Amino acid sequence: MTTAKPCSVGIVGAGNMGGSLLHGLLDAGVDPARLTAVDQRLDILEPLAARGVVTGSELALACDSRDIVLVGVKPQSAPGVLGALAEHLLQGQPIVSIMAGVTTDRIVEMIGTDHPVVRVMPQTLVRLQAGATAVAGGQHATAEHVKMVVDLFALVGSSVEVAESQLDAVTGLSGSGPAYVYTVIEALADGGVKAGLPRETALQLAAQTVAGAGRMVLETGDHPAALRDQVTSPGGTTIAGLAQLEAAGVRHAFIAAVEAATQRSQELGRPEEDGS
Ligand SMILES: NC(=O)c1ccc[n+]([C@@H]2O[C@H](COP(=O)([O-])OP(=O)(O)OC[C@H]3O[C@@H](n4cnc5c(N)ncnc54)[C@H](OP(=O)(O)O)[C@@H]3O)[C@@H](O)[C@H]2O)c1
Repeated sequence: MTTAKPCSVGIVGAGNMGGSLLHGLLDAGVDPARLTAVDQRLDILEPLAARGVVTGSELALACDSRDIVLVGVKPQSAPGVLGALAEHLLQGQPIVSIMAGVTTDRIVEMIGTDHPVVRVMPQTLVRLQAGATAVAGGQHATAEHVKMVVDLFALVGSSVEVAESQLDAVTGLSGSGPAYVYTVIEALADGGVKAGLPRETALQLAAQTVAGAGRMVLETGDHPAALRDQVTSPGGTTIAGLAQLEAAGVRHAFIAAVEAATQRSQELGRPEEDGS
């Protein structure tokens, strides 16, 4: 978390991701007067307006007196939205894109101006101030622009700077990661149910186990293998379970999942596949 005053943000596209960010920032204590949400869906804007966010459907509103303009529409909407946004951008106003797979070079091409561009891969977990966000500076972006965005996302979880060339890997790991972990939670709960636990109890135990184990890694800084050794008694229950996971190739499955998602992100980033 940062204590400096956060930058003011105009968000175009307040859907799943943009909306999660807005609600997360509000819950983190950001002054709603520093946030603008522009979307074509009233049902999304209403709860934000009720919390004091400036809302509307005109692109110009997202730029009006904001430190940054964040584009949160689907990648296939990028050419239309960015092309139309260009005439409303204030001089030197940075554009922040959360659009998966759309490179900063493509964004610059689509805007057709020399505004600074910063690319971000966030998670909807920012809604709970629990997001893992990666930020990469693109054309015309200075270290200050990148820092402003890193600091903004640090209000709603952890936030790191990476090279743009690493964003596909980030997408394969933390971008797609929540879905992998939801699958793990569901499967653990299924195991509990198979072993005789009520579904609700099994789900609660599984989800809290994942949340607690994640916190343990982050807060101790210990290697996961060392933490695992601490809870694995010789001849005990845990090593019996771990042996089954190894036999099923669980480690390989996760590595392959991240690799496949990274490759798909690279494919989607090619101009002929991004819908533009
Ligand atoms: N969801 C995630 O977990 C996640 C994670 C990381 C990054 N992202 C990125 O975040 C972006 C948004 O994803 P999402 O899941 O949030 O999509 P979404 O729920 O569809 O949100 C996009 C919103 O933008 C609106 N919109 C489209 N064109 C517009 C325009 N010209 N002016 C104003 N609003 C417009 C859409 O309205 P309509 O529905 O009427 O079109 C929709 O409400 C994507 O580029 C995705 O790659 C998402």
